[in-house]
Amino acid sequence: MKAEMKTRTVNGVELAFVDRGTGPPVMLVHGFPLDHTMWDAQIEALSPACRVIAPDLRGFGRSGVTDAVVTMQRFADDLAALLEALEVDEPIVLCGLSMGGYVAFQFWQRYRLRLRGLVLCDTRAVADTPEMAAGRLEMADRVLREGPAPLVEAMMPKLFAKAAVEERPEVVRCLRRVMTSNDPKGIAAAGRGMAQRPDVTATLGEIDCPTLVLVGELDAISTAEEMRRIARAIPGARFVEIAGCGHMSTMEKPAEVSAALLEFLGQLCY
Ligand code: MLT
Repeated sequence: MKAEMKTRTVNGVELAFVDRGTGPPVMLVHGFPLDHTMWDAQIEALSPACRVIAPDLRGFGRSGVTDAVVTMQRFADDLAALLEALEVDEPIVLCGLSMGGYVAFQFWQRYRLRLRGLVLCDTRAVADTPEMAAGRLEMADRVLREGPAPLVEAMMPKLFAKAAVEERPEVVRCLRRVMTSNDPKGIAAAGRGMAQRPDVTATLGEIDCPTLVLVGELDAISTAEEMRRIARAIPGARFVEIAGCGHMSTMEKPAEVSAALLEFLGQLCY
């Protein structure tokens, strides 16, 4: 069942989001250049036990498009403002994949009292190298000129493990559709924002809320080795590696990812 979307205007932008289920609140934050639909399977699996809030970040999906640069801090501020607008007072479990993880790190730095737990999926703690940042800025300009296609073609080979591409072409097609339909202005703004995101490696040891670090074994963007190091640096963090899975773990191995999330939430909230 496709989840129905609601909207709220916060920080000068209309944000679209799914808000489904009752119980302990869990917020799911999508990667780049995607939207909340990358969490469809988890919305389905978690909402019988939790209140699942899955926004489209500004510039993506059905949310409004704003500035030329949107930083990870700005996305985190939007999430906090959305929680306020929804009158969610109890601490949440914040779960971000890839760019969603960059946003989750910023949310922890700015709103840690709002957190009951963190889930970091297929993400990185380091900043871009100067070469990567320059490449992102160049790609942002190109997307504005030519549309999302060049970015989609550059990213697609890195997003899924080979087996998923062969065995589940419909999932790959679905992701391509989402990436292609996003507004070039929103894509460019987030790309520029990621290029200037801070390195949070030195702060990992300060994360003092229960944390789950989850990665696909074959993730080509945020490798399992890199994520194991993140888990080791966060006091008490749990580490789950999903066998045979690439970067888009929530879509590639939805049942395994949902099970890992439910187990973590069960220990934390019940
Ligand atoms: C993502 O999946 O959000 C992106 O791969 C993040 C990035 O480009 O660093």
